[in-house]
Amino acid sequence: MAHHADALILRPMTPGDVPAAERLSAQAFLEVERRHLPRSLPEPAARPADRGQAWARRTLHLLRTDPGGCWVAEEGDTLVGFATSFVRETTWFLATYAVLPGHQGRGTGVQLLAAAMHHGRGCLHGMISAMADPQAARRYRLAGFTLHPQMHLSGTVDRAAIPVIEKVRDGSAGDSDLMDSVDRGTRGAAHGPDHELLLAELRLLVSDTSTGSGYVYVEPGGSVALLAATNRRTATRLLWAALAESTGPTRLGHVSAANAWAIDVGLAARLELGQGGYLALRGMNPPAPYVHHGALL
Ligand SMILES: CC(C)(COP(=O)(O)OP(=O)(O)OC[C@H]1O[C@@H](n2cnc3c(N)ncnc32)[C@H](O)[C@@H]1OP(=O)(O)O)[C@@H](O)C(=O)NCCC(=O)NCCS
Repeated sequence: MAHHADALILRPMTPGDVPAAERLSAQAFLEVERRHLPRSLPEPAARPADRGQAWARRTLHLLRTDPGGCWVAEEGDTLVGFATSFVRETTWFLATYAVLPGHQGRGTGVQLLAAAMHHGRGCLHGMISAMADPQAARRYRLAGFTLHPQMHLSGTVDRAAIPVIEKVRDGSAGDSDLMDSVDRGTRGAAHGPDHELLLAELRLLVSDTSTGSGYVYVEPGGSVALLAATNRRTATRLLWAALAESTGPTRLGHVSAANAWAIDVGLAARLELGQGGYLALRGMNPPAPYVHHGALL
């Protein structure tokens, strides 16, 4: 048990910290959802165990690629906060950032964000996907990021609205160069090693024609995890292909105002439009046509 007399220590995260960091982030994010989700939505639940394992695998991946971008804050032997960040080409990304509820508002978050941002000091661009927490949005704006509200579409897809889908195929590791190239054209930086991780966890659909190319990672329930394309026509085709995979309630999150095409598809599928959280950017415009990943961006 930490005493308030214990000094706050910042140090690089190690693989041994990952289980405690996973629990801490699940707790902090549940608290944000309890406070800020609209009352019309069902009571938020804690992150389920399988999601926790996926979170841990992703964080271990970031510790391998970016040991200097991942920091923890400790008071005595209690982990009170952490920030995981990574650099891909010219861009710095913040994956997860949280301070234990009850320890917030004492300056811990400011120090953690500074340590993580130091890892990206040579980067021209920065990208963060934030939940609806006003404290997080405050931190990002004060750190120089522009805040772009995010929309989401949820519900059950109207099967009768799904158009005939052509020119979409299953993807594989052989599509990495294609995906990195589409990433550079939309996001400004390739996902590089992150494609290996995403491929191991999610279904990949690819469209590659003479007029455009793109890809989408789809979660087991049919929700979109990440989508990028060289034009709206290809992006629209891929989004319909992903929605056609859904078997029950589905969700398309992380839609910025620059991606009206995605809202059009979601509305045509009779999903319900909502809004929450921010895409926080530095030195770049909202990527399009693009639906970012919540942590790998
Ligand atoms: C966002 C989050 C990580 C910020 O961490 P935090 O520890 O609460 O942030 P801080 O305490 O460093 O906040 C700093 C503010 O407190 C003030 N502060 C209060 N006591 C302080 C102290 N003893 N020392 C230094 N600063 C102090 C600072 O001056 C600063 O004010 P400012 O906003 O005007 O700059 C945290 O609130 C959180 O976990 N939120 C929920 C999860 C979440 O949404 N994370 C982001 C997801 S993308």
